[in-house]
Amino acid sequence: MIDMKMEDVTNLISSVQSGEMMDLEQLSEFIRGVANHSIPVEMIEKWLKAVHSNSITVEETTILTREMMNSGAILEWEDNQLVVDKHSTGGVGDKMSLMLAPALAACGVMVPMLAGRGLGHTGGTIDKLESIPGFNCSLSPDEMKEQVLALGCCIAAQNDAIAPADGLLYAIRDVTNTIDSIPLITASIISKKAAEGLGSLVLDVKCGSAAFMKNKEDAEKLAKSMVGAAKGLGINTTAQITEMEFPIGKYVGNSLEVIGSIEVLQGNGSKDTRDLVVMQGSALLVQSGKVNDAEEGEKLIRQVLDNGLALSYFGKMCIAQGVSENDAKIICSNPNSILPKSKRMTTFVTNEAGYVEMIDSMVLAEVARKHGAGRFSLEDKIISEIGFEILIEQGQEVRQGDEWLRFHHNEGLNDEDFSRLNDSISLQKQKMGKFSRLIKTIC
Ligand code: URA
Repeated sequence: MIDMKMEDVTNLISSVQSGEMMDLEQLSEFIRGVANHSIPVEMIEKWLKAVHSNSITVEETTILTREMMNSGAILEWEDNQLVVDKHSTGGVGDKMSLMLAPALAACGVMVPMLAGRGLGHTGGTIDKLESIPGFNCSLSPDEMKEQVLALGCCIAAQNDAIAPADGLLYAIRDVTNTIDSIPLITASIISKKAAEGLGSLVLDVKCGSAAFMKNKEDAEKLAKSMVGAAKGLGINTTAQITEMEFPIGKYVGNSLEVIGSIEVLQGNGSKDTRDLVVMQGSALLVQSGKVNDAEEGEKLIRQVLDNGLALSYFGKMCIAQGVSENDAKIICSNPNSILPKSKRMTTFVTNEAGYVEMIDSMVLAEVARKHGAGRFSLEDKIISEIGFEILIEQGQEVRQGDEWLRFHHNEGLNDEDFSRLNDSISLQKQKMGKFSRLIKTIC
């Protein structure tokens, strides 16, 4: 293959900067160059910044998505009707994939999940799973397929064999502030999902101050862009726009979110987390034709969470992906005893009495990232044990001096950390109404 000429890359960047349509042949060549590492990272950064600032057309987004999908292997199934997956645009405490993949497999559908690492302030499924000693997320396409046919699910990171263009673009976006772009998110997510050879897909489009889409209009635009791109590639797709203000569930941080997931898989855990798993799982069971309606789907997902079947699939997935049998047993029964632990813990208490109106997820995510839960440069290593336990729920009544947040950290906290965390809770005097995560569904 002949490498792309650097003047053509410069042309491509200038077109985006000046709002002109890119030469589509050059765009395809560019993505092939990204995938085979022949385009210098500085040029990719410039192109990403231009797309992020000026956006691109639907036609360009379609080519981008297709080329990213075609940059590696595409999984093929004899019949993909029961091959399903969900993908989130990224939240705080968003650990759903860890429970959904095994729960769906336990319901009899197949989930060949390709997931991402942390992106910006949001956590990533792969970083969370890699906090489990021995868990291997680098599966080849053949290994993914073999595991899914044998067990019903796998969770793998994209690598040089599958969606490699997204692998590099994603990592560069993470550290160049070019994440919150509708075409880039669309192409990143849909190219990976299409490479899985899916029949059905549910997209969880996060909306709010701690999401990449801050308001409902942008979330709806992103949902429509992704649903359109996925349907265009033949995948039966719906998007659920969900609220991302209050952190999801009881834990934020890589190894802590594994603990939160195990609690739900044990039939306990946070209702907020469990409700999202039930809603997303049920939608996929309906879309794939496994059940007739949402009620039947919800019942089935609840059943496998309560009877331990989803947990046993999680344990089997750990073993299939490199965890020793003994460690998998401990992870499923007492994960706290085996996951990495922070050197220090600081507990925060409420300064007044009232009802919990909000916790600013963005502040929690930023402080956790600064202490090592996320990356700022390509070389940064995640510190798995950094994160938060959230000790209260939205709407809960608290007294002055009640413990509401526990920070697991290794380095000391400075005044700024203390004041940001102290100020991140807001209370109100009136009792509050019911809180629902689902804002809207787009089909
Ligand atoms: N998740 C992805 O895989 N890609 C994005 O761009 C955002 C969230």
